[in-house]
Amino acid sequence: MNKILYGGDYNPEQWPKETWKEDMRLFGMASVDTLTINVFSWAALQPSENEYNFSVLDEIIETVSAADMKICLATATATHPAWMARKYPEVLRVNTDGSKRKFGDRQNSCPNSPVYRKYSAQLAQKLAERYGKLDNLIAWHVSNEFGGFCYCETCEKAFRKWLAQKYKTIESLNEAWNAHFWGHTYYDWNEIVIPSHLGGEWAHNRTSCQIQSIDYRRFNSDSVLDCYLAEAKVLKEITPDIPVTTNLMGTFWDLDYQKWGKNMDFIAWDNYPSPGTPYTRTAMNHALMRGCGDGKPFFLLEQTPSVTNWQPYNSLKRPGVMRLWSYQALAHGSDTVMFFQMRRSRGCCEKFHGAVIDHCGHENTRVFRETAELGAELKKLGDSFAGSRLAGDAAVLYDWDNWWAASLSAGPTVNMNYPEEVFRFYDALAKQNISVDVIGMNTPLDTYKILCAPILYMVKPGVADKLKEFVSKGGILVTTYFSGMVNEYDLVTIDGYPGELRSLCGLWVEETDALPADQFNRLVCSEGKLAGTWKADLLCDIIHTEGAEVIARYADDFYAGTPALCRNSYGKGQVWYLGSRPEAPFLDRFTALICDECGITPVFPPQEGIEAARRIKGESEFVFVLNHNQSVTEVTIPFACRDLLTDKAFAPNERYSLPVAGVLILMKA
Ligand code: GLA
Ligand code: ZN
Repeated sequence: MNKILYGGDYNPEQWPKETWKEDMRLFGMASVDTLTINVFSWAALQPSENEYNFSVLDEIIETVSAADMKICLATATATHPAWMARKYPEVLRVNTDGSKRKFGDRQNSCPNSPVYRKYSAQLAQKLAERYGKLDNLIAWHVSNEFGGFCYCETCEKAFRKWLAQKYKTIESLNEAWNAHFWGHTYYDWNEIVIPSHLGGEWAHNRTSCQIQSIDYRRFNSDSVLDCYLAEAKVLKEITPDIPVTTNLMGTFWDLDYQKWGKNMDFIAWDNYPSPGTPYTRTAMNHALMRGCGDGKPFFLLEQTPSVTNWQPYNSLKRPGVMRLWSYQALAHGSDTVMFFQMRRSRGCCEKFHGAVIDHCGHENTRVFRETAELGAELKKLGDSFAGSRLAGDAAVLYDWDNWWAASLSAGPTVNMNYPEEVFRFYDALAKQNISVDVIGMNTPLDTYKILCAPILYMVKPGVADKLKEFVSKGGILVTTYFSGMVNEYDLVTIDGYPGELRSLCGLWVEETDALPADQFNRLVCSEGKLAGTWKADLLCDIIHTEGAEVIARYADDFYAGTPALCRNSYGKGQVWYLGSRPEAPFLDRFTALICDECGITPVFPPQEGIEAARRIKGESEFVFVLNHNQSVTEVTIPFACRDLLTDKAFAPNERYSLPVAGVLILMKA
């Protein structure tokens, strides 16, 4: 790629043709070079079962190609046409309460519907045949934001097949599902239902048989992935050189994106932080998405230039913030900056969603000016860091099975928020301005010095051994309460928690106390840099050490004085076990301590509100420095370098006043 791509979702079919011309003029002014088109055009392209009409799309493609735009061509299959729902009601989803859905909305197609599968693949095929040879076609964008669940009979039958493939015999399913509990023994595959509000699940993800519910989520993620793959297969047959992707959504409950990532040519994702989202939380999403693609550069496929329409309060991005967050995506490995949407639509629920071109239709707006300024900057940056990668020194583990399993667990607490638990560690590490990856269970660990694996509740086959190898070779592993509890079938590992991690942690947990939301215990710590008394909440494990050293003890309740935080030496490395959830300032100190101990140096000196990330390309290093503070912030540039945005050269230890929302891209000399 010879530059960072710039553009976004463009829906000209919503506008008269005179407007298209004006759009091209404005895109030129804003240095836009890439458009995602055709996202919601199925109904237009296929007016009835045996009729296709590509004339409008032909004209759109001619128009954008004549304007030198690159095209991300969507397959338009996120919304099936209304005639299809009428003629083949089987394409419609069924809700968890058993009610059949009607036409309307997107992602409303049953993922296992043969009719949906047939016609979505057929549309992809026709698009590939018609447009596959375009010079400016850079990627296929399948459907749009896949997600959701279906509880229909077709899915139920497919679920039984999926289970039969997994468990082979009904007896082994009964065993894995612990089916004697509440008399859930099955004698025939056809007796098994999808757990729903009609049976097996209640509101708020409460469920009677967690493994059945976990398996259903695994199955549903696979079913939806099969829809993606059915289209990808025909696209690849016809256009083997055009990469295929779809837009993911960060920490998205419905789909196991790590499994998805293995099936995508590259990762693309949509970034919509809420006002007030900590910048490190957005950074974690970028890192998670990057990790789903094995660390390769990804596409920021959507962000709003200014405002969303779907949050409770749709605040404007303040001046400079769109730019800042765009560079944040680039800092964390994106090779694009793309928006939803290019022109603000006139009707329906996204008419108040921000766009590059606003309802007023001209370029004299704050948002357009900011977009054009950023476009010009990206042009100037050229291919400097495009295609480069990050290299994490520390990693945080994120695992969808763990997320599902820990969240569906009945007890010990309803306040188990897996993404937030992982975020606490990501946040503390990221604030050290070191390079942090977010990885799955299958990612090799040899390049990392630190691995934080909070709530490692479900230990799948091979994971304990992998962690043992990591630590014995010198790695630092950090884990917490509610870890090592169950195997892949959600069956408790019964020789003392944390089960398979027990010898690694050098302790066992006898009981776990859950604290209501407003209560806390305190950790008394004597260890040098961690010394002090710290609040801790959520869960308190009552721990017996078996070789681990006690670093902090509880201050309160009947278990006062017992171990709360332990460190175990294992081979050349160490394992830290946090029996309770310490307050954030403790984690800040703690992560600083362990980074120091294993010699991880920050990519830029840590400082409040100043984010730094480093991309590497061959011998070149690019350090992005971003000011998220509400005030001008003075930073010290530790190395000789040049800022790619202003060409300003810096000598080591030079001070610099970074404006509000200011950005530096420092290329080391
Ligand atoms: C998603 C979708 C877009 C649009 C935006 C609005 O990311 O992919 O089609 O609905 O949300 O924020
Ligand atoms: Zn279905």
